[in-house]
Amino acid sequence: MPHDPYHPPAKKFKPGSAFFRPDKHKPGMLLPKKGSGPAPIEVQRKRLPIYQAKPQLLNQLRQLPSAILIGETGSGKTTQIPQYLYEAGIGRQGVIAVTQPRRVAAISLAGRVAEEKRTPLGKLVGYTVRFEDVTSSETKLKFMTDGMLLREAIGDPLMLRYTVVVLDEAHERTMHTDVLFGVVKTAQRRRRELNKVPLKVIVMSATMDVDLFAEYFNKSPVLYLEGRQHPIQIYYTKQPQSDYLQAALVTIFQIHQEAPASHDILVFMTGQEEIEALARTCRDISKHLPDSCGPMVVIALYASLPPAQQLRVFQPAPKGCRKVILSTNIAETSVTISGIKYVIDTGMVKSKRFNPDSGLEILAVQRVSKAQAWQRAGRAGREDSGLCYRLYTEDEFDKLIPMTVPEIQRCNLASVILHLMALGIPDVMNFDFMSKPLPEAIHSAVVQLELLGALEKKEQQVILTALGKKMANFPLEPRYAKAILLSPDFSCSEEVLGIVSLLSVDTVLYNPPARRDEVLAVRRKFTSSEGDHMTLLNIYRAFKKVSGNKEWCRENFVNSRNMGLVKAVQAQLREICLKLNMKLESCGSDTASVRRCLAHGMFVNAAELQPDGTYIALDSHQSVAIHPSSVLFQAKPAYVVFNELLHTSRCYMRDLCLVDAEWLVDAAPEYFSRKLRHSKS
Ligand code: CDP
Ligand code: MG
Repeated sequence: MPHDPYHPPAKKFKPGSAFFRPDKHKPGMLLPKKGSGPAPIEVQRKRLPIYQAKPQLLNQLRQLPSAILIGETGSGKTTQIPQYLYEAGIGRQGVIAVTQPRRVAAISLAGRVAEEKRTPLGKLVGYTVRFEDVTSSETKLKFMTDGMLLREAIGDPLMLRYTVVVLDEAHERTMHTDVLFGVVKTAQRRRRELNKVPLKVIVMSATMDVDLFAEYFNKSPVLYLEGRQHPIQIYYTKQPQSDYLQAALVTIFQIHQEAPASHDILVFMTGQEEIEALARTCRDISKHLPDSCGPMVVIALYASLPPAQQLRVFQPAPKGCRKVILSTNIAETSVTISGIKYVIDTGMVKSKRFNPDSGLEILAVQRVSKAQAWQRAGRAGREDSGLCYRLYTEDEFDKLIPMTVPEIQRCNLASVILHLMALGIPDVMNFDFMSKPLPEAIHSAVVQLELLGALEKKEQQVILTALGKKMANFPLEPRYAKAILLSPDFSCSEEVLGIVSLLSVDTVLYNPPARRDEVLAVRRKFTSSEGDHMTLLNIYRAFKKVSGNKEWCRENFVNSRNMGLVKAVQAQLREICLKLNMKLESCGSDTASVRRCLAHGMFVNAAELQPDGTYIALDSHQSVAIHPSSVLFQAKPAYVVFNELLHTSRCYMRDLCLVDAEWLVDAAPEYFSRKLRHSKS
């Protein structure tokens, strides 16, 4: 358990008050001078903390079948270890895979390593993420999302093309990483039993809590990298803050007024919308400050940002200008940013939470764990001593949970269970999970998959149906795979493929808040009274009609890059359909067929209008509301299906589609006869 690694004397401050007076600035301290340009890449590599340890590391890694490697973020684990192994000839018979929880991380790391090796991306160094494969037969160092490696395992459970699998960012404990632990461990053991080329497993973590990993991988040794950690002064607020955004804003400008311009600020927040909003406010305020304050560049960082824009966080600010980065938890570990002197931690994170009774997964803003809070604070001490302002009291900190609960214990497991069944793992309940999911959660996922027709019970055993096998072919959530597979029955495959593709990329809608009225006016021509899915489809159809014309995208506030991706995703999904011999037709203007088909896939996420004008989710009987971003916000449809629930001030349904009650009953007669009766009583 990482507790208080820096032994900081806790101090208290009050945003916006005189108590908060950092007085430690000595201008021109050890920070790299801005504007002097980065050192050559070979020099940078040799300066990394990991470089000192290279000989011992290689010595150990060569011998060990499995190892756990701990090193602070930025010490060089991800970029260097694969290269060290390759250069030392370890695992040369096959490919070295490095998994990442995030797609953007896989892409940017592959880019960085290719640059370090001075080869074009896709040759020696490549990456594979969902719907995008930049590798070739020459690729030896392959960065990939954990989800992709898991998919590959369906066709190749022994993972024979790989000689080394590096499970990176293991501390994040994403659902895919957790399942991969089990799959990789099994492959390693089976290969040993079958006398195949051994599979080396390296688990890498940025936090110290690795006992569980070591235990799980047959008591593997833990290798520690000497990090660069400078002392960090921690400040707590004197009082609990009711509005963490306001507190963050005040704190940013206090620092800005007092600290030298070369000291950059990193603020941890929860999501794109609030980050963009605060970024705007900061830019506005900084324009109106007296000249003595100096200019400020405000940069947003979140996972769905296009990679080119994400790279902006790495560029030093112009001389005399302060860089303020507003980031989600992505900057906790997976992205290293230099020049950070101040961290402001709101103590909040947006993450998924699951109710096994209802089977519903909710995205909600919640408090971080202590481990996360320390990880965030640590960002301030990379290059020199730093300061971390926690926008909560020390008491509140003491009450945080020690560790983040692994995703597998707080998410809907339908995808995972379907996946494990497709991997041929017979007894999912007893799969060798590092942290066991709740039995109720497994049960609830099995029930959902049964409702979708993917699983059935036969002689006390749960087995994959023919439909379930087909569903597992799609790199999609089971409900979307089901909708696609049923679409030929409604003669609307083209439309459903389009909609699912639209839902599989980051939003195609561009919503600059400053031009809100214009956006609303332009959107109106696409808006469908049948809901958000149909509205998106209208936009996509119009986009295709003008062959993706950039000018058209600009005028209609459509993100042309993401739209381009939608086309690529659709092409790949279509290929899977063709392999399954599906007949792909378009229903033209018969949009009811499309909604009917969606209802058959998404019926578990259905809601019903109540006499008092509110909605309840039929599955959980929870009160829900239509999110203001939905085209149905002002409407009162009797029945809808929705993509997800977002919990802020209340529980909102996002992305809705109007459906008929009969269709729901048609999709799952027995289930709805229970649910609907219940709701009327
Ligand atoms: O994995 P770990 O956090 O230990 O470090 P890394 O990702 O290997 O990064 C080591 C260093 O490489 C970082 O501190 C950056 O200076 C540099 N790097 C970069 O410039 N661009 C990237 N996309 C990734 C890393
Ligand atoms: Mg890393």
